[in-house]
Amino acid sequence: MKKFYITTPIYYINAAPHIGHAYTTVAADVLARYHRHRGTPVYLLTGTDEHGLKIEQAAKEHGVSPKEYADEISEKFRHLWKHLDVHYDDFVRTTEPRHEKKVQEVFAKLQQSGDIYKGHYKGFYCLSDETFWTETEAPADEKNIRRCPNADCRRPLQLVEEESYFFRLSSFQKRLLDHYQANPAFLSPEHRGKEILAFVREGLKDISISRAKVKWGVPVPGDAEQTVYVWFDALLNYVSAAAASPHASFEELWPADVHIVGKEIYRFHAVIWPAMLMALGLPLPKTVFAHGWWTVEGQKMSKSKGNFLDPYDITREFGIDAFRFFLLREMPFGNDGDFSLDSLRRRYNADLANDLGNLLNRVVDMVDRYLGGVLPKRFNPEKDFLPAKVAQRTAAYDECMQRLDFSGALGLVWGVISELNQYVNAQAPWKAAKTDMEKVKIILFDLVSSLRIVAGWIDPFMPHTAARIQSQLGVRQFPEALTAEQVLAGAQTSSGRIQKGPALFPRK
Ligand code: MSP
Repeated sequence: MKKFYITTPIYYINAAPHIGHAYTTVAADVLARYHRHRGTPVYLLTGTDEHGLKIEQAAKEHGVSPKEYADEISEKFRHLWKHLDVHYDDFVRTTEPRHEKKVQEVFAKLQQSGDIYKGHYKGFYCLSDETFWTETEAPADEKNIRRCPNADCRRPLQLVEEESYFFRLSSFQKRLLDHYQANPAFLSPEHRGKEILAFVREGLKDISISRAKVKWGVPVPGDAEQTVYVWFDALLNYVSAAAASPHASFEELWPADVHIVGKEIYRFHAVIWPAMLMALGLPLPKTVFAHGWWTVEGQKMSKSKGNFLDPYDITREFGIDAFRFFLLREMPFGNDGDFSLDSLRRRYNADLANDLGNLLNRVVDMVDRYLGGVLPKRFNPEKDFLPAKVAQRTAAYDECMQRLDFSGALGLVWGVISELNQYVNAQAPWKAAKTDMEKVKIILFDLVSSLRIVAGWIDPFMPHTAARIQSQLGVRQFPEALTAEQVLAGAQTSSGRIQKGPALFPRK
């Protein structure tokens, strides 16, 4: 059976992971959890990109071999994903034999089909971005220095002039444009897709896909002088890992359902990668989604500024769930935004401690105080049944999740939480408790059921929190929370022992 196949970029191992890497990977995990809990078999692939000049040099600076360096940093990524509760199904490293073999196989196949040919390359190379630029793309400045055209980089470029193999990208322009048009979901979100369309309409040039002087790479088959260009190598991870997966067959995985990438590598994924797949005769992924970039306290994260935020420091202070929540709530997936500890603290206190945490506390307290901790059955649930009204929002929530509109989904959930807070105030069960206990039972039953639904929605984002809420509210399907549908459908909605627990989010 076909699995819902989600990928993250494979990360460079020239430095330890930071919040930018955490962002993409947590988003992929949220999407995976969402689909998995609804019964879809899911497969999440992540990994590390370990070849290329940049890594070769970083290893040298540290006085170790590239492989030793790769082993050490790649492990740091795996460690962080475990820490952040990311459940991936496979972790691919481009230095693994299963991957290197595939790269060579593809190279040879495309040489045979004429999609790869040997030529002479002259151009400019950005080491930091591992990207080739032409003379016109990177004009010389008054000091005769050519800089990387990527506004976030602007580093001086190196002149590269050497024999090289080329991929015949130019011949795929029409097929790519046809594909974008026939498959509107392929380029997402729309505003980023527009940039790709404009770029491809301008015309495509063949691209150099090998390097003569870089030693740390996959050797070009039959040519001892050359290694495969790190991007051509890296993109193939999505099929090499699927073709040699320990847990699934290639047919169960390919084509990928969603490649999630940052906006700065969108061209590689939305232009070069589909052209490579076309050349190979493989079906294209359903969606290539480019999300935006975080700045930190208004500044670009960079080595020179030394402003990389360490995800471990953040989770030590705020907890893992709050970090996951903030990443996906604060900025719409697809836009850029700013990460600051102040805004994290603000959201933590307002959204998590106050809106959600207090609501749960109040409800559980009242069930304790007025009903001795036992929620009785709700008779006559057809009439003004609040949980059913809450559950009507499931369709809109699902729609957001399917479009990867994570902040939209969370905005909707917090809208419901705020309605529930207003409902408590308007109904004032503490007043009714003096005169009408039947009314108190109904109000509390409805609030408990509604909160159980809310916990189901929160679950992909904050799995621990969802489980803690549902266990305080007397329902829990170990090890995962119940979905809104399960709460409504299940007999468990009718009663239950309510157990007060410690505050979900103590104020900071
Ligand atoms: N190795 C390539 C990707 C190859 S995929 C076939 C690469 N690696 S990277 O280590 O530089 O990771 C880039 C990715 O990390 C971005 O595309 C994005 O997913 C994530 N981010 C890194 N910094 C980021 C921000 N400041 N903000 C948001 N995401 C960022 O490129």
